[in-house]
Amino acid sequence: MAIAPIAPPSQHVPVLWSPVLAGLAVKPEGTYLDGTFGRGGHARGVLAQLGPDGRLLVMDKDPEAIAEAHALAAGDARVRVRQASFATLEAWSETADGLDGVLFDLGVSSPQLDAAARGFSFRNDGPLDMRMDPTQGMSAADFVNTADEAEIARVLWVHGEERQSRRIAKAIVARRAERPFERTGDLADAIAKLLGRGDGRTHPATRSFQAIRIHVNAELDDLIVGLEAAERALKVGGRLAVISFHSLEDRITKQFISQRAKAPPSNRRAVVEVAFTPRLRAIGGAITADEAELAANPRARSAVLRVAEKLAIDGAGA
Ligand SMILES: C[S@@+](CC[C@H](N)C(=O)[O-])C[C@H]1O[C@@H](n2cnc3c(N)ncnc32)[C@H](O)[C@@H]1O
Repeated sequence: MAIAPIAPPSQHVPVLWSPVLAGLAVKPEGTYLDGTFGRGGHARGVLAQLGPDGRLLVMDKDPEAIAEAHALAAGDARVRVRQASFATLEAWSETADGLDGVLFDLGVSSPQLDAAARGFSFRNDGPLDMRMDPTQGMSAADFVNTADEAEIARVLWVHGEERQSRRIAKAIVARRAERPFERTGDLADAIAKLLGRGDGRTHPATRSFQAIRIHVNAELDDLIVGLEAAERALKVGGRLAVISFHSLEDRITKQFISQRAKAPPSNRRAVVEVAFTPRLRAIGGAITADEAELAANPRARSAVLRVAEKLAIDGAGA
């Protein structure tokens, strides 16, 4: 059945809108999971392509995103909502009959970054929080005020690829001994004072803020667990679409797909060659924004979409 083309929403155009919908290849009667509802831009696109028997399951950790999802569900019986990490998608009974598509649009949303009170931004001063779900886990302030210096350095290096990780960790520990960090502006200024103002385009605290945010929200652990859960929950022929915003996420997603799609290089020293059975088929390679999208939405600059389809194994039916 041909799908009628739909236009993206006018006020907030989600990143890589058309390629995501093309990648998910929405079946009107299918069940789709958007694990990162945000403000529902992609979710509304999926919904517009579903028929009356289709289902849209949406998840987000963020209570404000979930409030918006409930508003959408109140007007549309095809929508189900759950506030939780997508890493736990299999614990949701709605996923038990299998999914025709799963979308993860990773990281933080523009409303999260823009609201100073959420504490994600080094540009808009606010409480140093950075949690997608402010009721769960440790805040960014808890982390920088209590973790030991080596752990702070490790997080900045591993999750921010920050080359000055040790210097920054040392400065954080020295400064917090006088006065704990409470505000995003305070932490951003301390890092800028240490590193200098940089090239003026990128704030010197950019990598550190990214690293601390990834750490307090366990973003990479959730991604690894979530990809495995999505693979199990997908029906044969179901599609997985993942949008990453930095190389750490994209590396995990790319390896996840390629390890299941391509045979590893043969090892001539292996005593027994183990036959490789592909479990996923990569649908194209890395998809990035075109010129028109980049001109309209600078945030799309770092977005990379990867899509894969679940394959039948051992003759399992579609
Ligand atoms: C980039 S935004 C998604 C934007 C959305 N696609 C749209 O069109 O509005 C990412 C959202 O995913 C949520 N999120 C990130 N990681 C999550 C996870 N592991 N589980 C559930 N939600 C997550 C964030 O709270 C945020 O609302």
